[in-house]
Amino acid sequence: MRRGRSDRGALYERGLAVVMPGRRPAAEEVTPDAPPGRLTVRGLHAAYGRIEVLHGIDLEVSPGEVLALLGPNGAGKSTLLKACGGRLRPRSGRVLVSGADVTGKGPAALAHLGLCSIPEGRGVFPNLSVRENLLMWTYGGASRSEVEERAFERFPRLAERRNQRAGTLSGGEQQMVAFARALAARPAVLLLDEISMGLAPLVVSELYAVVGDIAAGGTTVVLAEQFVDSALEVATRAAILSQGRLEQTGTPQEMAGAAAASYLGKSG
Ligand SMILES: Nc1ncnc2c1ncn2[C@@H]1O[C@H](COP(=O)(O)OP(=O)(O)OP(=O)(O)O)[C@@H](O)[C@H]1O
Ligand SMILES: [Mg+2]
Repeated sequence: MRRGRSDRGALYERGLAVVMPGRRPAAEEVTPDAPPGRLTVRGLHAAYGRIEVLHGIDLEVSPGEVLALLGPNGAGKSTLLKACGGRLRPRSGRVLVSGADVTGKGPAALAHLGLCSIPEGRGVFPNLSVRENLLMWTYGGASRSEVEERAFERFPRLAERRNQRAGTLSGGEQQMVAFARALAARPAVLLLDEISMGLAPLVVSELYAVVGDIAAGGTTVVLAEQFVDSALEVATRAAILSQGRLEQTGTPQEMAGAAAASYLGKSG
Protein backbone atom coordinates (compact mmCIF):
# COMPACT_ATOMS: atom_id res chain seq x y z
CA MET A 1 0.00 0.00 0.00
CA ARG A 2 1.27 3.47 -0.78
CA ARG A 3 1.87 5.65 2.19
CA GLY A 4 0.53 9.19 2.33
CA ARG A 5 2.77 12.15 2.92
CA SER A 6 1.88 12.46 6.60
CA ASP A 7 2.63 8.77 7.24
CA ARG A 8 5.98 9.13 5.63
CA GLY A 9 6.68 12.25 7.69
CA ALA A 10 5.90 10.38 10.90
CA LEU A 11 8.12 7.45 9.91
CA TYR A 12 10.86 9.85 9.04
CA GLU A 13 10.79 11.48 12.45
CA ARG A 14 11.09 8.07 14.05
CA GLY A 15 14.14 7.41 11.91
CA LEU A 16 12.40 4.60 10.04
CA ALA A 17 11.85 6.06 6.62
CA VAL A 18 14.82 5.89 4.32
CA VAL A 19 13.80 7.62 1.15
CA MET A 20 12.38 11.09 1.20
CA PRO A 21 9.81 12.53 -1.15
CA GLY A 22 12.56 15.05 -1.80
CA ARG A 23 12.24 18.50 -3.16
CA ARG A 24 14.63 18.92 -6.07
CA PRO A 25 17.63 20.96 -5.00
CA ALA A 26 17.75 24.40 -6.53
CA ALA A 27 20.61 24.72 -9.00
CA GLU A 28 22.34 27.42 -6.97
CA GLU A 29 22.56 25.07 -3.98
CA VAL A 30 25.14 22.92 -5.73
CA THR A 31 28.72 24.12 -5.43
CA PRO A 32 30.73 22.04 -7.90
CA ASP A 33 34.12 23.36 -6.74
CA ALA A 34 33.67 22.12 -3.16
CA PRO A 35 36.29 19.52 -2.19
CA PRO A 36 35.10 15.91 -1.85
CA GLY A 37 33.99 15.35 1.72
CA ARG A 38 33.18 18.92 2.65
CA LEU A 39 30.08 19.10 4.81
CA THR A 40 28.08 22.31 4.60
CA VAL A 41 25.02 23.18 6.66
CA ARG A 42 23.04 26.28 5.76
CA GLY A 43 20.23 27.86 7.74
CA LEU A 44 19.14 24.53 9.18
CA HIS A 45 15.92 24.42 11.18
CA ALA A 46 14.67 21.15 12.67
CA ALA A 47 11.71 20.30 14.83
CA TYR A 48 9.99 17.43 16.55
CA GLY A 49 6.34 17.89 15.79
CA ARG A 50 5.60 21.54 16.40
CA ILE A 51 8.55 22.15 18.70
CA GLU A 52 11.48 23.65 16.87
CA VAL A 53 14.82 22.49 18.29
CA LEU A 54 17.37 23.88 15.79
CA HIS A 55 16.93 27.53 14.94
CA GLY A 56 19.15 28.14 11.93
CA ILE A 57 22.52 26.39 11.99
CA ASP A 58 25.33 27.35 9.62
CA LEU A 59 28.40 25.19 9.54
CA GLU A 60 31.20 24.16 7.24
CA VAL A 61 33.58 21.27 7.93
CA SER A 62 36.38 20.34 5.56
CA PRO A 63 38.12 17.03 4.86
CA GLY A 64 40.54 16.05 7.62
CA GLU A 65 38.86 18.32 10.16
CA VAL A 66 37.34 16.96 13.34
CA LEU A 67 34.62 19.26 14.62
CA ALA A 68 33.52 18.62 18.20
CA LEU A 69 29.98 19.73 18.96
CA LEU A 70 29.75 20.63 22.61
CA GLY A 71 26.92 21.97 24.70
CA PRO A 72 24.60 21.10 27.55
CA ASN A 73 22.03 18.31 27.54
CA GLY A 74 19.16 19.13 25.25
CA ALA A 75 21.12 21.74 23.28
CA GLY A 76 20.36 19.99 20.00
CA LYS A 77 23.65 18.21 19.27
CA SER A 78 22.05 14.86 18.46
CA THR A 79 19.31 16.61 16.52
CA LEU A 80 21.90 18.38 14.37
CA LEU A 81 23.69 15.09 13.67
CA LYS A 82 20.38 13.39 12.89
CA ALA A 83 19.41 16.16 10.48
CA CYS A 84 22.80 15.94 8.74
CA GLY A 85 22.77 12.13 8.74
CA GLY A 86 19.36 11.76 7.14
CA ARG A 87 17.62 10.54 10.29
CA LEU A 88 15.47 13.61 10.75
CA ARG A 89 14.03 15.68 7.95
CA PRO A 90 15.00 19.33 8.45
CA ARG A 91 12.13 21.79 8.52
CA SER A 92 14.14 24.13 6.35
CA GLY A 93 17.71 24.80 5.34
CA ARG A 94 20.22 22.75 3.40
CA VAL A 95 22.80 20.05 3.92
CA LEU A 96 25.50 19.67 1.28
CA VAL A 97 28.08 16.92 0.98
CA SER A 98 30.98 17.52 -1.39
CA GLY A 99 29.02 20.47 -2.76
CA ALA A 100 25.92 18.45 -3.64
CA ASP A 101 22.63 19.12 -1.96
CA VAL A 102 21.61 16.03 0.03
CA THR A 103 18.83 17.61 2.08
CA GLY A 104 16.11 15.08 2.79
CA LYS A 105 18.06 12.01 1.70
CA GLY A 106 17.93 9.02 4.06
CA PRO A 107 20.87 7.23 5.73
CA ALA A 108 21.21 4.57 3.02
CA ALA A 109 21.31 7.09 0.18
CA LEU A 110 23.78 9.20 2.15
CA ALA A 111 26.03 6.18 2.75
CA HIS A 112 26.26 5.77 -1.02
CA LEU A 113 27.27 9.43 -1.24
CA GLY A 114 29.99 8.93 1.35
CA LEU A 115 28.30 10.13 4.54
CA CYS A 116 28.01 7.64 7.39
CA SER A 117 26.81 8.14 10.90
CA ILE A 118 27.04 6.22 14.11
CA PRO A 119 23.96 7.33 15.99
CA GLU A 120 23.60 7.46 19.73
CA GLY A 121 23.06 3.90 20.91
CA ARG A 122 25.42 2.60 18.20
CA GLY A 123 22.90 1.13 15.82
CA VAL A 124 24.25 -2.42 15.80
CA PHE A 125 21.83 -5.26 15.17
CA PRO A 126 21.78 -7.19 18.47
CA ASN A 127 20.49 -10.46 17.02
CA LEU A 128 23.05 -10.62 14.22
CA SER A 129 26.59 -11.87 14.71
CA VAL A 130 29.59 -9.57 14.47
CA ARG A 131 30.27 -10.81 10.94
CA GLU A 132 26.68 -10.34 9.85
CA ASN A 133 26.70 -6.81 11.24
CA LEU A 134 29.83 -6.02 9.25
CA LEU A 135 28.32 -7.41 6.08
CA MET A 136 25.40 -5.01 6.30
CA TRP A 137 27.79 -2.40 4.97
CA THR A 138 29.33 -4.16 2.03
CA TYR A 139 26.97 -2.34 -0.31
CA GLY A 140 29.33 0.61 0.16
CA GLY A 141 31.42 -1.10 -2.51
CA ALA A 142 33.92 -3.09 -0.47
CA SER A 143 34.00 -6.88 -0.70
CA ARG A 144 33.06 -9.11 2.20
CA SER A 145 36.65 -10.18 2.87
CA GLU A 146 37.95 -6.62 2.57
CA VAL A 147 35.42 -5.39 5.13
CA GLU A 148 36.26 -8.17 7.59
CA GLU A 149 39.99 -7.78 7.11
CA ARG A 150 39.86 -4.07 7.76
CA ALA A 151 37.60 -4.50 10.79
CA PHE A 152 39.64 -7.25 12.42
CA GLU A 153 42.94 -5.54 11.77
CA ARG A 154 41.67 -2.40 13.48
CA PHE A 155 39.86 -4.23 16.27
CA PRO A 156 41.51 -7.62 16.92
CA ARG A 157 39.08 -8.20 19.77
CA LEU A 158 36.26 -8.47 17.24
CA ALA A 159 38.10 -11.19 15.33
CA GLU A 160 37.90 -13.47 18.35
CA ARG A 161 34.19 -12.76 18.60
CA ARG A 162 33.26 -12.83 14.94
CA ASN A 163 30.43 -15.35 15.42
CA GLN A 164 29.10 -13.89 18.67
CA ARG A 165 25.71 -12.15 18.64
CA ALA A 166 26.36 -8.40 18.74
CA GLY A 167 23.78 -7.95 21.52
CA THR A 168 25.92 -10.04 23.87
CA LEU A 169 29.09 -8.00 23.29
CA SER A 170 30.26 -5.49 25.89
CA GLY A 171 29.40 -1.84 25.28
CA GLY A 172 32.92 -1.09 24.08
CA GLU A 173 32.92 -4.05 21.72
CA GLN A 174 29.54 -2.99 20.30
CA GLN A 175 30.95 0.46 19.65
CA MET A 176 33.88 -1.21 17.84
CA VAL A 177 31.39 -3.04 15.61
CA ALA A 178 29.65 0.25 14.86
CA PHE A 179 33.01 1.84 14.01
CA ALA A 180 34.10 -1.08 11.89
CA ARG A 181 30.84 -0.92 9.95
CA ALA A 182 31.25 2.78 9.35
CA LEU A 183 34.85 2.26 8.25
CA ALA A 184 33.82 -0.44 5.83
CA ALA A 185 31.96 2.17 3.84
CA ARG A 186 35.18 4.26 3.56
CA PRO A 187 33.20 7.38 4.35
CA ALA A 188 34.12 10.85 3.21
CA VAL A 189 32.10 12.25 6.11
CA LEU A 190 31.61 10.54 9.46
CA LEU A 191 29.11 11.71 12.08
CA LEU A 192 29.52 10.36 15.61
CA ASP A 193 27.11 10.85 18.48
CA GLU A 194 28.35 10.30 22.03
CA ILE A 195 30.66 7.44 21.25
CA SER A 196 31.83 7.41 24.86
CA MET A 197 28.37 6.73 26.27
CA GLY A 198 28.63 4.20 29.09
CA LEU A 199 32.20 3.19 28.27
CA ALA A 200 35.28 2.99 30.46
CA PRO A 201 37.84 5.78 29.97
CA LEU A 202 40.39 3.39 28.49
CA VAL A 203 37.96 2.21 25.79
CA VAL A 204 36.98 5.82 25.12
CA SER A 205 40.57 6.83 24.48
CA GLU A 206 41.06 3.76 22.24
CA LEU A 207 38.04 4.80 20.17
CA TYR A 208 39.17 8.40 19.97
CA ALA A 209 42.56 7.27 18.74
CA VAL A 210 40.69 5.53 15.92
CA VAL A 211 38.76 8.73 15.22
CA GLY A 212 42.08 10.57 14.93
CA ASP A 213 43.37 7.99 12.43
CA ILE A 214 40.18 8.21 10.39
CA ALA A 215 40.48 11.99 10.17
CA ALA A 216 44.18 11.73 9.32
CA GLY A 217 43.10 9.62 6.35
CA GLY A 218 41.15 12.64 5.04
CA THR A 219 37.67 11.93 6.38
CA THR A 220 35.57 14.84 7.60
CA VAL A 221 34.44 14.10 11.16
CA VAL A 222 31.73 15.77 13.22
CA LEU A 223 31.19 14.43 16.71
CA ALA A 224 28.94 15.28 19.61
CA GLU A 225 30.35 14.50 23.00
CA GLN A 226 29.73 15.09 26.67
CA PHE A 227 33.19 13.72 27.50
CA VAL A 228 34.66 17.10 26.59
CA ASP A 229 38.30 16.30 27.29
CA SER A 230 38.47 13.25 25.01
CA ALA A 231 36.63 15.08 22.26
CA LEU A 232 38.89 18.10 22.43
CA GLU A 233 42.03 15.96 22.31
CA VAL A 234 41.18 14.76 18.84
CA ALA A 235 39.21 17.80 17.59
CA THR A 236 40.74 20.36 15.28
CA ARG A 237 37.84 22.75 15.92
CA ALA A 238 35.01 22.93 18.42
CA ALA A 239 31.58 24.51 18.40
CA ILE A 240 29.25 25.17 21.28
CA LEU A 241 25.60 24.61 20.70
CA SER A 242 23.12 26.09 23.12
CA GLN A 243 19.34 26.01 22.82
CA GLY A 244 19.48 25.10 19.17
CA ARG A 245 21.92 27.80 18.14
CA LEU A 246 25.66 27.72 17.49
CA GLU A 247 27.02 30.06 20.11
CA GLN A 248 30.73 29.98 19.46
CA THR A 249 33.25 28.21 17.27
CA GLY A 250 36.97 28.15 17.84
CA THR A 251 40.03 26.09 18.54
CA PRO A 252 39.66 23.23 21.02
CA GLN A 253 41.74 25.20 23.52
CA GLU A 254 39.52 28.28 23.20
CA MET A 255 36.35 26.26 23.51
CA ALA A 256 37.37 24.16 26.52
CA GLY A 257 36.65 26.96 28.99
CA ALA A 258 33.63 28.21 27.08
CA ALA A 259 32.11 24.72 27.13
CA ALA A 260 32.41 24.53 30.91
CA ALA A 261 30.70 27.91 31.25
CA SER A 262 27.97 26.86 28.83
CA TYR A 263 27.25 23.67 30.79
CA LEU A 264 26.90 25.72 33.95
CA GLY A 265 24.43 28.01 32.22
CA LYS A 266 26.70 31.04 32.21
CA SER A 267 27.42 33.04 29.11
CA GLY A 268 30.93 33.40 27.71
N1 LIG B 1 12.32 12.28 19.28
C1 LIG B 1 12.10 13.43 19.92
N2 LIG B 1 10.84 13.90 20.09
C2 LIG B 1 10.61 15.07 20.73
N3 LIG B 1 11.56 15.86 21.24
C3 LIG B 1 12.84 15.44 21.10
C4 LIG B 1 13.18 14.22 20.45
N4 LIG B 1 14.51 14.07 20.48
C5 LIG B 1 14.99 15.15 21.11
N5 LIG B 1 13.99 15.98 21.49
C6 LIG B 1 14.14 17.27 22.19
O1 LIG B 1 14.99 18.11 21.41
C7 LIG B 1 15.87 18.84 22.23
C8 LIG B 1 17.30 18.59 21.75
O2 LIG B 1 17.61 17.22 21.99
P1 LIG B 1 18.97 16.56 21.53
O3 LIG B 1 18.85 15.11 21.75
O4 LIG B 1 19.31 17.03 20.17
O5 LIG B 1 20.00 17.22 22.55
P2 LIG B 1 21.53 16.90 22.82
O6 LIG B 1 22.27 18.19 22.72
O7 LIG B 1 21.98 15.79 21.97
O8 LIG B 1 21.50 16.46 24.35
P3 LIG B 1 22.36 15.35 25.13
O9 LIG B 1 23.66 16.01 25.48
O10 LIG B 1 21.54 15.09 26.34
O11 LIG B 1 22.52 14.16 24.24
C9 LIG B 1 15.60 18.41 23.65
O12 LIG B 1 14.77 19.38 24.24
C10 LIG B 1 14.87 17.09 23.49
O13 LIG B 1 13.95 16.89 24.54
MG1 LIG C 1 22.60 13.85 22.33
